[in-house]
Amino acid sequence: MTNNLKHIPKDFLWGSASAAYQVEGAWNVDGKSPSVWDNYVKLPGTTFKGTTGDIAVDHYNRYKEDVALMAKMGLKAYRFSIAWTRILPNGRGEVNEAGIEFYSNLIDELLKHNIEPLITLYHWDLPQCLMDEYGGWESRQIIRDFNEYATVLFERFGDRVKYWISLNEQNIFVNLGYQLAVHPPGVKDDNRMYKVNHIANLANATVIHTFHQMVPDGNIGPSFAYSPVYSKDSDPINVLAAEKAEDLQAHFWMDVYLKGSYPKFALDYLQKSGIDLDIQDGDMALITSAKPDFLGINYYQSNTMAFNPIDGVGQGEMNTTGEKGSFGESGIPGLFKRIQNDFVERTNWDWEIDPKGLEIAIHRITSRYDIPILITENGLGEYDKVADDSHIHDDYRIDYLSSHISAVNEAISNGARVLGYCTWSFTDLLSWLNGYQKRYGFVYVDKYEVEEGTLARTPKDSYYWYKDLIEKHQNN
Ligand code: BG6
Repeated sequence: MTNNLKHIPKDFLWGSASAAYQVEGAWNVDGKSPSVWDNYVKLPGTTFKGTTGDIAVDHYNRYKEDVALMAKMGLKAYRFSIAWTRILPNGRGEVNEAGIEFYSNLIDELLKHNIEPLITLYHWDLPQCLMDEYGGWESRQIIRDFNEYATVLFERFGDRVKYWISLNEQNIFVNLGYQLAVHPPGVKDDNRMYKVNHIANLANATVIHTFHQMVPDGNIGPSFAYSPVYSKDSDPINVLAAEKAEDLQAHFWMDVYLKGSYPKFALDYLQKSGIDLDIQDGDMALITSAKPDFLGINYYQSNTMAFNPIDGVGQGEMNTTGEKGSFGESGIPGLFKRIQNDFVERTNWDWEIDPKGLEIAIHRITSRYDIPILITENGLGEYDKVADDSHIHDDYRIDYLSSHISAVNEAISNGARVLGYCTWSFTDLLSWLNGYQKRYGFVYVDKYEVEEGTLARTPKDSYYWYKDLIEKHQNN
């Protein structure tokens, strides 16, 4: 499949991404303390077939092999997250030099091969000790501790790393952790969720300030999981439902990051629902004054909405088994519900495949905020099989990525500023709730839910396709 890349700038960051808990393993070595995920996955019934990241794909021990594969591919950027628990095992205070050394070596290895490191400060693996001490994100003490952790990283790596992501998918970790109760700490309480979210906004703003003081020539921004909302049809009742959904599901985060305010409809709705965000004096001034240099976007799918009557559906079932069709409609009674979009295909995990949606996402962000965008994640989670010829023929992934890259090219041709594109993911990795069978990587890893596997790496067809695409773009 060929791509029209003519609008994509030459210094574009062709990248790929991962997160510490999903790849590293080595969960209890070299001074690392447990994170909330290390403990959560060991509670019965929390993950698919009880899978954990204890070993994950052993990137901690095999990072040189992984970077060598990146280099051979010609990758320009690698986004990875740092485990707070390796750097500050007590959440704050004494720095664990072994943890620093691991990431320092990884950064050097990347730079040696001209791969730009993009660091995510926080990809959900909160130190368990801070959860035990004061409830983690539920206390404003986290703002100080998160800033201390970030300061250590800016100090140690700020000279070599110029792109930083503050929080990964704040909207997802608060929603899945405090509303749907499927991520740690497994809570279902809207009031707590919105308070946690406001505190996360303050922590995000604080580290952005610190970064700009400490790394003045660097770039930082949050990564937002954006699923642009469509109306089911042009019936005004559905259009209004979709508008409200976009406010409550997207503007509620993006406006805060980029305009320094919560959308009016959302605030009014929450107030009427008896939800208090606990906005204190000075909070909004802090938030407004922190200016991200870009917005990271994790795009997987769009959401189609219809009006949801007051006696309509609430939370639905998530498909974490890979049995197509096992998800249910979900929504907020009286406002909106998410329905199936008949114009697009779905994966086996019922994620809608909608490349045009990525163009729509970039278009909306550019019109509303006019900020550079970094696609920090985009990818296809599917079953992959090793064929009789020992190769992995993932043409469906090539189609997926190719069509999404074309969407990026189109968006740029219409005036958007896009700094780079990171696929999710480079190697196969742990999919939080879906085990190892939902694979995303360019590189197949011999790793399964129940039996361990050899952890051997095999590049898939998509690996060679991305390699060619990068090469073609550089040479044209
Ligand atoms: C994003 C996360 O939500 O989507 C990743 O930042 C995650 O960590 C990815 O793995 C895909 O989600 P899932 O549930 O299929 O693993």
